[in-house]
Amino acid sequence: MHAQPGVGIRPDTPVDAGAPAMRSAPDPPMAGPDQRHLPATSFRSRRSALSGAQRDTWERRWPELGLSLGDRDSVGGEPLDTRGWFGRAAPLVLEVGCGSGSSTLAMAKQEPGIDVIAVEVYRRGLAQLLCAVDRDRVANIRMIRGNGIEVLQRLIAPGSLIGVRVFFPDPWPKARHHKRRFLQPATMGMIADRLLPGGVLHAATDHPGYAGHIAEAGDGEPRLRRADPGAPLPISVARPTTKYETKAHEAGSTVTELIWVRPE
Ligand SMILES: C[S@@+](CC[C@H](N)C(=O)[O-])C[C@H]1O[C@@H](n2cnc3c(N)ncnc32)[C@H](O)[C@@H]1O
Repeated sequence: MHAQPGVGIRPDTPVDAGAPAMRSAPDPPMAGPDQRHLPATSFRSRRSALSGAQRDTWERRWPELGLSLGDRDSVGGEPLDTRGWFGRAAPLVLEVGCGSGSSTLAMAKQEPGIDVIAVEVYRRGLAQLLCAVDRDRVANIRMIRGNGIEVLQRLIAPGSLIGVRVFFPDPWPKARHHKRRFLQPATMGMIADRLLPGGVLHAATDHPGYAGHIAEAGDGEPRLRRADPGAPLPISVARPTTKYETKAHEAGSTVTELIWVRPE
């Protein structure tokens, strides 16, 4: 079943005491030419019953480490106070569609000086990541349950990110569904706006058609240019191989890695 376009996910947890401060009245989403072409939704709804242990951890740690964007009345248009949320000022990476977070966890451990916000609509995936963060005492990951488009629009300030990661976004292979793809020209524009000068967009896909679509959208965004191979970047682009990627390899797919930089 597909989520209804334009409908936020059902809130499972209100915005909590430990989460960053927000205004109570929501602003309308950012207006502008990009707004008209943003994908209304780019995900399928999935069953997400949690195990008992996951539920316990969710109840214990989500108020501090997570934020649910489903409740439009409790999340305002003010950008996140990420310094308050992480308790420090550090370069910030946003990962959209983290799944169960295995890349998120490994990359955050490799780069303890960088803070990572992982966005996902799938609650069980977030619960898996939350349990791993709790178990391994990882200090530099926070999570948002919600649509990455809305997160970028409403919670991330322009020029605030050192990196955006989008690994294996849903390819929506049927032509009539291409408009649902997360990485589109308008999304590229919004990502470029949220990146700091020198910031990096790192995408990977195993779908050849989507790889071409992403390449065109990124290359068509005037505020981004392809990273020079071998040039130093402010964040790591060394991804661990996830279960999803292993399956893709087994099915004979080739993975395309796409990296852009917002010039200084
Ligand atoms: C194919 S999975 C890849 C998961 C993970 N990145 C990996 O490499 O294993 C794509 C994920 O993106 C999530 N997703 C799709 N559209 C999204 C959106 N607009 N905002 C947040 N998550 C999204 C889906 O729920 C799904 O878990």
